[in-house]
Amino acid sequence: MGTIPLEKEFKGIAAVRSVINRLLHSLARNLPMYPAWRASIHRMRGIRIGRDVFIGSDVFIDNTYPERIVIEDFVTVISRTFIIGHSFTPVHLKKILEKNEIRQTGVLLKKGCYIGGQSVIMPGVVIGECAIIGAGSVVTRDIPDYSIAAGNPAKVIKTFSKEDVIFDVFDSRKTPNEGRSTIEV
Ligand SMILES: CC(C)(COP(=O)(O)OP(=O)(O)OC[C@H]1O[C@@H](n2cnc3c(N)ncnc32)[C@H](O)[C@@H]1OP(=O)(O)O)[C@@H](O)C(=O)NCCC(=O)NCCS
Repeated sequence: MGTIPLEKEFKGIAAVRSVINRLLHSLARNLPMYPAWRASIHRMRGIRIGRDVFIGSDVFIDNTYPERIVIEDFVTVISRTFIIGHSFTPVHLKKILEKNEIRQTGVLLKKGCYIGGQSVIMPGVVIGECAIIGAGSVVTRDIPDYSIAAGNPAKVIKTFSKEDVIFDVFDSRKTPNEGRSTIEV
């Protein structure tokens, strides 16, 4: 049985940091807590997260390169979603997948978007402002602002107008995400 070599960047202090980040990730995923606390823990891991972000339980967000993930204000990510910001390729498949590795990096969830439960967001994807992703979708391409996309691969099934979004709640103190007073698991 072979061993998986640690990349150079994960030796020494970086390796310790990486283990701490994984522990924080595990806490955020598995402990029952307020969704806002989860957002704070993911911030400690290096993910750039805006205000009033709801993150459900067991949401996996890139373990290796958390800094490549950006989650803007008022985003909702429902449980068991899987967000990955890089591709890992075994050495023997590098020639085949090299181009993907370079092209597909980072994920941007734009303001107010909603990711339905158990979705997969692939590297390089931008989810548009207030866009809605159906439960169980696999998102492989960018999704435009103000649209609903679903399926595997996710396709736009509906669009709506900016006027349909209740932006007022973003300005008030009690936003939909802050309004959750119970511990969500
Ligand atoms: C995507 C979603 C928002 C669509 O709602 P909607 O606008 O009312 O859409 P409709 O129910 O009219 O469905 C439109 C079409 O999309 C399909 N569709 C809906 N949701 C889908 C999904 N998650 N995956 C694949 N297809 C889906 C429907 O089957 C329908 O197809 P058809 O026109 O061929 O019959 C909703 O289905 C959804 O998935 N919400 C997220 C639920 C969730 O994660 N909740 C967590 C609560 S904690």
